Amino acid sequence: MTHPDTMAVHGGREDLAALGVHVPPIDLSSTYPVTDLHSGGGSYETLATGGRPDEGGVSSLVYQRLWNPNVDRFERGVADLEHAPGAVAFASGMAAFSATLIACISAGAPHVVAVRPLYGGSDHLLATGMLGTEVTWTTPGGVAEAVASRPDDTGLVLIESPANPSLEIVDVRAVVEAAGNVPVMVDNTFATPVLQQPLGLGAALSMHSATKYLGGHGDLVGGVVATNEEWARRLRQVRALTGGLLHPMAAYQLHRGLQTLPVRVRAQQASAGTLAAWLSGHEMVQEVRYPGLPGSSVPDGQMSGPGAMIAFRPRGGAAAAAELVTRCELITHAVSLGGVDTLIQHPASLTHRPVEESAKPGEDLLRLSVGLEDVEDLRVDLDRALRGC
Ligand SMILES: Cc1ncc(COP(=O)(O)O)c(C=O)c1O
Repeated sequence: MTHPDTMAVHGGREDLAALGVHVPPIDLSSTYPVTDLHSGGGSYETLATGGRPDEGGVSSLVYQRLWNPNVDRFERGVADLEHAPGAVAFASGMAAFSATLIACISAGAPHVVAVRPLYGGSDHLLATGMLGTEVTWTTPGGVAEAVASRPDDTGLVLIESPANPSLEIVDVRAVVEAAGNVPVMVDNTFATPVLQQPLGLGAALSMHSATKYLGGHGDLVGGVVATNEEWARRLRQVRALTGGLLHPMAAYQLHRGLQTLPVRVRAQQASAGTLAAWLSGHEMVQEVRYPGLPGSSVPDGQMSGPGAMIAFRPRGGAAAAAELVTRCELITHAVSLGGVDTLIQHPASLTHRPVEESAKPGEDLLRLSVGLEDVEDLRVDLDRALRGC
C-alpha cells in the first residue's frame, strides 16, 4: 500500500476487519471502565504522559481527553500520507500550533523564528507572545542568523509554503539546512500531503488546519501535526494536559475526508490552473499569484503540483477588491478554504486583520480557494464580478 490514493482510502483502517465492520465505529465515550486500581492507574500514567495504548500495560483508555480510537485512526491516516512516523490531532489548527509552542516552552526553548507571511491567526499568536514565546521575524535568508542569535533557547523555526494568503513559496530544504539542529515546522495546509510532504524535505513537523482540505466540506474544525515519535509523544502529553483533543465525531468526518483528498485536490488544482491562467490575461486584473503560472518557481522536488489556492489583485485597487467580493454570486464571500465550494475573501480585512501594518497583505489582494464546481461556471461568475467593478 504505497500509492497515496490507496493510502488515503485504506489508512487508519487496519483494525476494521478484526472488528467485523466496514467503516469505523464512532466511539463517543467520555470515560471507560477501569478494572482495578493498579492497571487503571498504570493506564492513566501511560496515556497522560504521551504514551499509546499499544505500548503494553494499558488495560483501559480511561478518559476521552487521554485517548480516542477515532482520533487515533485519523492520525494514522494522516501519518501515512505525510510519510511520517506519527501524527497528533487537535480541536483546531490553532490548538495544534499552540500545543507545539507549549511543547517548546516547557522544554526551555521559548524562542521561535518565524518567516512571514503566515496565516493571520498564527502571526497574531506569536506577535502577542500570549503563551510565553518570543518571536524573531525573518526572511528565509535570515533564518540562520536568527537561530544563531539565540543558540540556547530557540525551539522552533516556523514557515508556511505556499504561504497564506499570497502564495509565497519557501525553499523548505534550504530553511531546514539554515536551521541546523532547530526543528522546522511547515504549515502544510495549502499544499496538503497530496502535493507536499515536508518531513521528506527535512522538516520535523508538518502542521495542518484540518478544517480546510483534510475535512474538505466546510463542516468541522480540527488540526493535526505529523511528526516523528518523540515529538508525537510530547504533543500527546500537551494535548492530554491542556485539553485540545479533537472531537471523535470530527475525527470520524476527517478520516472519511482523507479518502477523497487526493481526488479532490487534483480536481480543484486543475480548475485553479485554468482560472489562474485566465485571470492573468484578464483586462481587469493587475496581478495573479499562483505557483503553477509561468515565471513562478518552486524548488525541484518540493511540490508535486501547484495546488488550488490563488491570490490576485484586481485593477482599481482596494475599492475594486472590496466591491468584487460582494459581486460574486456562485462563489461565496467567506473565510476558510479547501472545501468543495469556491470561496473568496479579502485577507487584509479578515484572516490577516490582526497582522501588524508592515507585514499585512495589500488592501487590493484577494484570496480565492477553488472548489469542485464546473470551472466554466466559476469563470463566468468571476468575469461578471470583475467587469462590474
Ligand atoms: C494556513 C493556516 N494555518 C492555520 C490555520 C488555523 O486553523 P484553524 O482555523 O483550524 O484553527 C488556518 C486557518 O485559516 C490557516 O489557513
